[in-house]
Amino acid sequence: MKTKIALTIGLLLSASSSITLAKDAPMFVWNRTTLGMVEAASAGRGEKIAEEQKCAKCHGKTGVAEDEDAPNIAGQRAPYIAKQLADYKDGAREEKSMVKAARKLNAQDMADLGAFYAKQKPEKAAGKVKSVVMVSAGDEKRFLLPCAACHGKNGEGFGHEVPALMGQKGTQLLDTMKAFKEGDRANDHYGRMRYIASKLSDQEIKQTSAFYSAPAAAPKKKDE
Ligand code: HEC
Ligand code: HEC
Repeated sequence: MKTKIALTIGLLLSASSSITLAKDAPMFVWNRTTLGMVEAASAGRGEKIAEEQKCAKCHGKTGVAEDEDAPNIAGQRAPYIAKQLADYKDGAREEKSMVKAARKLNAQDMADLGAFYAKQKPEKAAGKVKSVVMVSAGDEKRFLLPCAACHGKNGEGFGHEVPALMGQKGTQLLDTMKAFKEGDRANDHYGRMRYIASKLSDQEIKQTSAFYSAPAAAPKKKDE
C-alpha cells in the first residue's frame, strides 16, 4: 500500500514538473559549469567570434553602438553578457535581432564574447547629474535598497550577477526600467529588478536612468 501511494505521488510530481518546463523558458543557472566557462573565457576568441557574427553591425566595433536602437556593451561585465546571450537563445528575452544573433552561439562562445566586450572602453557620457536619492539611499519604507548597494558606487556592477550601468545610454536604461516595471522583461533572477522597478515612480525611473548615463557616474581611471 505504502509503495502504491509513493508511486502515485511520484507520478503526480513528475507530471506537474513537466508542465512547468513546457510553459516557461528555462531560467539560466549560475553553477560550477557556467562559472567555469566564464573563468576560462578568452577575449581573443571572443573578438574573432564577434567579427564572424557581425555584432559590430549594431553594437559598433568595440561595443559602443552608434544609434539609439542598440545598447552599448563595451565595459559591461563578462558574466552578465554571457547570461544575456543565453537568455536570448533560450527565449527568456525575446527581442528578434538578438534571438537571431544568439541562436548560433554555444555557451563557451557566449563567455568568450563577454570577455572581449568587458575589456573595451565604455562610452564617455556627455553631462553631469547631481546625486539621486534612490541611487545612494534607497527607501526603507518601500523595502528598496539603494541602486548602489548592488550596482556599485559608480555603477560599475558587481560579481557575476550585477551588470554595470555606467557607460550605457539613457534611452536604453529608461526603456529597460519600464520593461522591468511592466514585466515585459522578466529574465532577472528572483524578480529583483521587476520588484524594484514596480515600486518606482516614473520620475524616479527618469532620474536614476539619467544618473547612470552621465559621466559623473563613470569611475575615474588612474591613467586618465
Ligand atoms: C541586428 C542588430 C544586432 C546584432 C547583429 C547584434 N545585436 Fe545585440 N542587441 C541588439 C539590440 C536591438 C539589443 C537590445 C534588445 C532588447 O531590447 O532586448 C541588443 C542587446 C544585446 C545585449 C544585452 C545588453 C543589455 O544591456 O542587456 C548583448 C549582451 C548583446 N546584444 C550582444 C550582442 C553580440 C555579442 C552580438 C553578436 C554575436 C550581437 N549582440 C548582435 C541588436 C543587435
Ligand atoms: C538587490 C540588488 C539590486 C538592486 C538594489 C538594484 N539592482 Fe538593478 N539589477 C540587479 C541584477 C541582479 C540585475 C541583472 C538582471 C538580469 O540578470 O537580467 C540588474 C539589472 C539592472 C538593469 C539592466 C541592465 C542591462 O544592461 O540590461 C538596469 C537598467 C538596472 N538593474 C537598474 C537599476 C536601478 C536604476 C536600481 C535602483 C533603483 C537598481 N537597478 C537596483 C540587481 C539590483
